[in-house]
Amino acid sequence: MSATLSNEQLTSIANEYGTPVYVYHAEKITEQFHKLQSAFRQSKSRFFYASKALTNINILKHIHALGCHVDCSSINEVKLAVLAGFEKENILYTSNGIAFSEIEEAVELGVNINIDSLSNLEKFGRKYGHSYPVGIRLRPNIMAGGHLKISTGHEKSKFGIPIEQLDNILALVEAHDIFIAGLHVHTGSEIKDVSVFMKVADIFFDLVPHFRELVYLDLGGGFKVPYREDEEGTDVPLLGEKVAEAMQRLKDAYNRDFEAWFEPGKFLVSECGYFITQVNVMKQSGNTTFAGVNSGFNHLIRPMFYESYHRIANISNPDAPIHTYTITGNICETDTFAADRQLPEVREGDLLVFYNAGAYGFEMGSNYNSRFKPAQVLVIKGQPHLIGKRDTFEDLLRNQVEITF
Ligand code: LLP
Repeated sequence: MSATLSNEQLTSIANEYGTPVYVYHAEKITEQFHKLQSAFRQSKSRFFYASKALTNINILKHIHALGCHVDCSSINEVKLAVLAGFEKENILYTSNGIAFSEIEEAVELGVNINIDSLSNLEKFGRKYGHSYPVGIRLRPNIMAGGHLKISTGHEKSKFGIPIEQLDNILALVEAHDIFIAGLHVHTGSEIKDVSVFMKVADIFFDLVPHFRELVYLDLGGGFKVPYREDEEGTDVPLLGEKVAEAMQRLKDAYNRDFEAWFEPGKFLVSECGYFITQVNVMKQSGNTTFAGVNSGFNHLIRPMFYESYHRIANISNPDAPIHTYTITGNICETDTFAADRQLPEVREGDLLVFYNAGAYGFEMGSNYNSRFKPAQVLVIKGQPHLIGKRDTFEDLLRNQVEITF
């Protein structure tokens, strides 16, 4: 049985902490990590949680306690990971478009680094030469992922060093005797098709002979989790088998052994998250019935930004007859969460829950319209714990500097 929170638990949390509120379920994260461990047991695989998905320090600590490692996308995420207790060798900084000074900071902290531009690779080579092992992030020119905005490996993408610039990479590596410890490719998010990862493995197969000191081959994150009622996620056991085969193929061909690294974000924390909102206003307009909730894209931007689908339930009236609703927010924008959604009769005051809200939910939130960011609650062994307070009015002014006119 998969770990889930019941409507009763969610209602009780909404009553205790108010709405809107993000709720995370620790045991679900554990369950997802164990699925990975079991699926990849035949290869030397390491998992680095893509912490950009949800950086609350308690979530990081929970993930650390599981024995999972962490992938960071800014130097501040690296510092949060250190604070959460991750050992430096288990922290990976996969940078993109950053100032070289952040790479210097990461070197001082002693963490693993994937460099994503020739420019930073050159600066790195000049400064560190062979003294600090480093990985390179490549752009493989593969189109993958659930939406163009979350596809990172295609030929118009800004991410990574374009693979056609391999000669330039090799020239820099040779000129500065750079210690290349890893190759990295992340093609996108929500990749259901296992063959995408195998295409990356094939690219690595061809590249390996050029790099004599490689330790890891990093295939990125992007495992799909089911968002819709009728869809399935990535077949992770199959992926685990295929990766083991690919690593064996490398061993047979070159007599070299590599660690396979992965950076899952959504897979670990998407399904653990529930976003509870309350219906402020019902409004009829022609054939459309709007249910306006006390939130907006300031709290959950995925539906508006990526046209993402989130399952929604009316947990206050679950057995009522089904009608069609358009769920909107309360900010001064067109903030439609879902159009023409079938739900049990919705009334003002009802609690609407958005599922799969753990990854890139709270994390991409803002104070737009001077609204407060929601509270965050972590449920561990059935007990709710407040892990993030709702903003207060003072928070809105915290970094503002009032000048005298
Ligand atoms: N590694 C790298 C280098 C990445 O760029 C990403 C995501 C990940 C790992 C983790 O991907 P995941 O396993 O979570 O799919 N905000 C978007 C997703 C952006 C993903 C960007 N990179 C969303 O809400 O769909």
